[in-house]
Amino acid sequence: MTAPKKLFIKTYGCQMNVYDSERMAEALGDSYVETKTADDADMILLNTCHIREKAAEKVYSELGRLKPLKALNPDLKIGVTGCVAQAEGAEIMRRQPAVDLVVGPQSYHRLPAMEARVRSGQTALDTDFPEEDKFEKMKGRGKAVRAPSAFLTVQEGCDKFCAFCVVPYTRGAEVSRPASRVLTEARELVENGVREITLLGQNVNAYHGAGSEGADYTLARLIRELAKVDGLERIRYTTSHPNDMDDALIAAHGEVDKLMPYLHLPVQSGSDRILKRMNRSHTADSYLRLIERIREARPDIVMSGDFIVGFPEETDADFEATMDLVREVKYGYAYSFKYSTRPGTPAAERTLVDAAVADERLQRLQGLITEQQRSIQNAMVGRDLSVLVEKTGRETAQMVGKSEYLHSVHIDNATAKVGEVARVRIVDAKTNSLTAVEL
Ligand code: SAH
Ligand code: SF4
Ligand code: F3S
Repeated sequence: MTAPKKLFIKTYGCQMNVYDSERMAEALGDSYVETKTADDADMILLNTCHIREKAAEKVYSELGRLKPLKALNPDLKIGVTGCVAQAEGAEIMRRQPAVDLVVGPQSYHRLPAMEARVRSGQTALDTDFPEEDKFEKMKGRGKAVRAPSAFLTVQEGCDKFCAFCVVPYTRGAEVSRPASRVLTEARELVENGVREITLLGQNVNAYHGAGSEGADYTLARLIRELAKVDGLERIRYTTSHPNDMDDALIAAHGEVDKLMPYLHLPVQSGSDRILKRMNRSHTADSYLRLIERIREARPDIVMSGDFIVGFPEETDADFEATMDLVREVKYGYAYSFKYSTRPGTPAAERTLVDAAVADERLQRLQGLITEQQRSIQNAMVGRDLSVLVEKTGRETAQMVGKSEYLHSVHIDNATAKVGEVARVRIVDAKTNSLTAVEL
């Protein structure tokens, strides 16, 4: 038997790309082992993101850096996967001829065949949206699972077409995986030591998977079934759209113990005028009322969100409405981005906000968000929480994990091992983590 070749995957963008990278490593099977650096790799895959201009441009500078490695290792093949691969296709090989392989997110099951093709000295390109379910055609889970916390994609694609966003074009239409397949994969993960599963989808709460009776499975029902899996301790899901938060899902937050009290629910803006131009089909008020209902079901839930500042034609008053909304919600986490024009999206036609104005707004919003994050973190001091231990810490006898609320927690003098859920008391709050002692 020949020695396995070395595979290096660099992942950009969202959690779905993290999941896809694991599945691709598994798909390439035993002929590859993963390596941590590009320098000794025989196959480099850049799993790319197209969401903002900067993310997409990074790919070309990275390819430029990797190209000289080909002179050192004649066996080296370079591939581009993910959303830039889907959006730009053959153009990538034209701009950077060192690229051997380009494959879009819906064709990953074809990766082994494409690998064989590039090994024979040809190039391979696939940006189809094939009918077949790629994940069912890929190898089972196990090889790439290393941590007690894992992602599991249950839904992919988006039919919402927010005016700024490339995802409906790079990931295609909304598709849900059948419930039985998701449950089987979850059991496989748990058998491999996984204790926490985060269900992924670009619109995960729009999940509508086929069940055994052909019935439609909602996300709430899927979560309730998953909660029955022995050995699985925690369930999370991301990312949700406000319009798909149905009553059953809200109720699950109050009733399913394994469903963690954390919810990422992007709103993008607090101005109805801008929300309309963004094609978000909800208002600031409907979002706030939705959060009220979620908090009735689960009063301690920590909210998280995404914001875009400087969307075309955003006025000072529009931006102040966003600040007001943030003040009202009080986020535990929030991610804010300066609007980036994406070719082919409806918003690309509109008049941009002055860059300096947008920068200043971004700074103000981020200041407010940081303040809120700190105050929610500080309020954890003195509380008794559960921590899923994920790894050893820097100090002796220190372990690091996540609380129910997704805060990073350092446990000093810990006896709990990786994969265990420890009961702890929070004794201090640092900028990016909490410190705790075991109870
Ligand atoms: N499906 C998810 C995630 C979309 S991408 C959702 O609906 O929330 C993640 C975030 O990137 C978005 O929530 C948005 O805040 C941001 N984003 C998307 N397109 C953008 C653009 N053109 N410019 C700046 N930020 C953008
Ligand atoms: Fe993009 Fe909007 Fe779909 Fe989210 S809901 S992926 S922001 S189009
Ligand atoms: Fe980026 Fe594609 Fe995810 S554009 S955010 S990698 S879906």
